Amino acid sequence: MTFQSPDAGLAYLDYNATAPVRPEARQAALAAMSTVGNASSTHRSGRDAADRVDLARRQVADLLNCSHGEIVFTSGATEANNLALRAAFAAGGQLVTSAVEHPAVLETAKAITAELPQALTVLSVDVDGLVDLEALHEALAAGNVAVVSLMAANNETGVLTDLAPVVKAAHDAGALVHTDATQLVGRLPINLTETDVDLLSLSAHKFGGPQGVGALFVRRGAALPYRPLLFGGGQERGWRAGTLNVAGIAGAGAAAEAARHGMAAEVPRITRLRDSLENALVEQIGDCRVNGAVDRRLPGVSSITFHRAPADAILASMPDVAASDGSACSSGAPTPSHVLLAMGRSREDADSTVRFSLGYATTAEDIDRAVASTVRAVHHVRGTLASAT
Ligand SMILES: Cc1ncc(COP(=O)(O)O)c(C=O)c1O
Repeated sequence: MTFQSPDAGLAYLDYNATAPVRPEARQAALAAMSTVGNASSTHRSGRDAADRVDLARRQVADLLNCSHGEIVFTSGATEANNLALRAAFAAGGQLVTSAVEHPAVLETAKAITAELPQALTVLSVDVDGLVDLEALHEALAAGNVAVVSLMAANNETGVLTDLAPVVKAAHDAGALVHTDATQLVGRLPINLTETDVDLLSLSAHKFGGPQGVGALFVRRGAALPYRPLLFGGGQERGWRAGTLNVAGIAGAGAAAEAARHGMAAEVPRITRLRDSLENALVEQIGDCRVNGAVDRRLPGVSSITFHRAPADAILASMPDVAASDGSACSSGAPTPSHVLLAMGRSREDADSTVRFSLGYATTAEDIDRAVASTVRAVHHVRGTLASAT
């Protein structure tokens, strides 16, 4: 099955905002919606719904290489991050995170430490977006760290965190590790039997599942009280009360399975397409800069600063390309990207940065269209600004 773009005239390069729903996911969600049943009911219809949820739980667990009993379904990564940090911080201590996290981690961390601001340590990153590991070691050495929360892959630059040394150092110091793996899951392999994080968040719509479904991985045996955000019927072992979103969860499971099967072919194909986009833009446009450690990135992400050309004007000049001027969650907000500022970029550079993000259904035609339109748009914007001054 292949994905049919609903708009043949658009190069959709905004997979980090949301990916098109995979046909397998649509089919599983529709099949679930075509029947009736509450997954908590004990009659046949209820058991059918519970079976669909159970299958999806196994499919998501297979993608992560963990046990299905370690998956808690949520409404997305935002909820998973909130749940994870609240539980890990329940007994107090220090919460250590980084300056380039998604607001779903940074704002949660600020909220839960609001009355004890000294309990929050925000690690800086270098010009390539890599977290300062020496500062992590210092924070751990100071003692009493409850949890270290570092994202697996950055949503704006695609920069990857090497989790193994983080986990080792944190566990040696008696701290838990949470990772917001929203942008990594379904795009690169992750094996939770090897990567020993205690908590991991994901969101199905980033890998071709429906929006509004996510999961929190909670490692069995992790010393961690649950702290529900929602109180009620005790679903999801008490972590997340409320009737399960059976259709959404079924779609998430099918997307996880399709992503797992497709990954070996998708990773090199998407990397090639991303590199050809990036190389063509850098060569044909000039005076631009690729952001983030180029050899430590997700395959499908390219963040490029086009000097002397504001990103909002570039995007407005190329309506046939869907890309982003920063993370979609904050676009529309007048503040510059906190990720690029943390990497030492000026406000002007942050405002001149476009994020292209590719995925499983991106084609060579999308790339050709994006290159032609971006080259035209940047030259147009630079020309207009130059003639206005
Ligand atoms: C790294 C990261 N974490 C969390 C989220 C929040 O995901 P959701 O909006 O699906 O809850 C996003 C969404 O862009 C993200 O990129």
